[in-house]
Amino acid sequence: MPATVVVGTQWGDEGKGKFTDLMAKDMSMVVRFQGGHNAGHTLVVDGESFALQLCPSGILYPYIVPVIGNGVVVDPRVLISETEMLRSRGVDTSNLKVSGNAHLILPFHQEIDRLTERRLGNRKLGTTKRGIGPAYADKASRVGLRVQDLLDAKIFRQKLEALAKEKNQILAKVFNQLPLDVDEIAAEYLDECLPKIEPYIADTVTLVHDALDAGQHVLFEGAQATFLDLDHGTYPFVTSSNPVAGGVTTGAGVGPRYIDRVVGVAKAYVTRVGTGPFPTELAITADAIGGKPRDDASAEEIALGDHFVEVGREYGTVTGRRRRPGWFDAVMLRQAVRLNSLSELAITKLDILDGLDTVKVCVAYDVDGVRHTHLPYHQSDLHAARPIYEELPGWSTPLGDVTEPAGLPKEAEDYLAFLQDQVGVPVRLVGVGPGREQYVKRDV
Ligand code: IMP
Repeated sequence: MPATVVVGTQWGDEGKGKFTDLMAKDMSMVVRFQGGHNAGHTLVVDGESFALQLCPSGILYPYIVPVIGNGVVVDPRVLISETEMLRSRGVDTSNLKVSGNAHLILPFHQEIDRLTERRLGNRKLGTTKRGIGPAYADKASRVGLRVQDLLDAKIFRQKLEALAKEKNQILAKVFNQLPLDVDEIAAEYLDECLPKIEPYIADTVTLVHDALDAGQHVLFEGAQATFLDLDHGTYPFVTSSNPVAGGVTTGAGVGPRYIDRVVGVAKAYVTRVGTGPFPTELAITADAIGGKPRDDASAEEIALGDHFVEVGREYGTVTGRRRRPGWFDAVMLRQAVRLNSLSELAITKLDILDGLDTVKVCVAYDVDGVRHTHLPYHQSDLHAARPIYEELPGWSTPLGDVTEPAGLPKEAEDYLAFLQDQVGVPVRLVGVGPGREQYVKRDV
C-alpha cells in the first residue's frame, strides 16, 4: 500500500522539510496530520528559500494535492498570509485542502499561550506562543471551534460566545487583562477569513481514502518530532499533539494497515528549542535571549556548541531563538525507532560536522552508575543521565558537492555505518547541504 510517513526523531528542526520535499516529488498527495503553525519548514528550491509553517511541503509541486488534515490546528489568518505569500511567488495554491474537522486557533488561544508562558517565568515551557496548546486543550475539552463551524455563521457565533465567556473571565481574573471583543473576532473570522479559505475546506478523510484506493502515493508529513510528542516526549516540555507516526491514524483518519514505510529524519547532531532535559547538550556562548553556558563548561565545549549553532544556522525559523545543540544521541534514536516503527533513517546536515577532528555519538547513558542503552522510563533518570560516548575520526573534505555514496570520505561513511548499526535501521538518505540536490542516496 503506497502510504509513507515522514517523522522527526529528535526534538524538531531535523530538516524534515528537505526530505519531505524530495519524497513528495513522487507523491500525488501530501498530508499534514498534527501541529499547526508552530512548525517551520524551510525548503530551498532553485536557490530560492520558502519558509512554510502550515501548508504541507508538497504545495510547491503543481500536481500534488496538499492536505491539512483534521489533526492540525489552523489559524486561518496564517493560512491566508501563507497562501498569499506563495501565490505572490508564483506557486499555485488552488489544490490545497483543509479539513472541516480541523480545530481553529482563535485569538484567545494565542493570548493565553503568551500570558501563561509569561506567568511561568523561569518554569516556562518555551512554547512558540502561537496558541497551539490552548487550542488543543479546548479540542480535548470539547469546547473548541472547528473549521466547518465557519460555514454556519449562527453556529460559529454561538460557540464563539460560549467560549469567549469563559476565556474572557480567565483573561480578566487570572491574567488581569482586558477582554477580547467577540464581534471583532467574528467579523475577522467570518467576513475577512472565510471567503478566502472557503475554497480549500473539504472532507479530507474521503479525499485521502479515495487517493489510497486509487493506488496513488500519499505522504504523511509530520511536524515537530518524536520527543515533543504529548504522550512519548519529555513531558511537560512537549507540544500538544502526537507527532509520532501513530498520529497519522487519528490526525488524518487512516488506519495503520495502510502505512508501509516510515522514514525517520534525524540530524547528524541534535538540537532542541525551549526547555527540557537534553542529555548530550553542549554549552554555547550566552545569547541575546538569556541562554548562558554551564559554569563548568570548558572553552573547547563552548566552541563546539557554537560551531553547531553558527555553522548549522540553528536559529528557530518561527521564533528566531538560538537552538540548544548537542551530539547525536543513539539512545533516543533507538526509542524513536520503536515509537514510530521506523523502516529507515534520513540523516540531515552531515556537512555541519565537516572539519571536526573527531565526532562523538552517545551510545548509552550512565544513570547513577548504571548503564542504560534504552531511554530510562523515569524522567528524573533522564535529567540525571550522563552520556557515554564513542568517538570516531572526523573528516576534512567538505561534503557539499558529494552526490554519490562513493564520493563520501571513508570517515563520513564509517560514521553513517556506525549510526545505523547503533539504532538498527538503515540510513538511506543523507543531507549534505541546504539545496534540494544536496543529498546522497545510500544503497542499504
Ligand atoms: P508549542 O508547540 O508552541 O506549544 O511549544 C511546545 C514545545 O515544542 C516548545 O519547546 C517548542 O519550542 C517546541 N516546538 C514546537 N514546534 C516546534 C518545531 O517545529 N520545532 C522545534 N520545536 C518545536
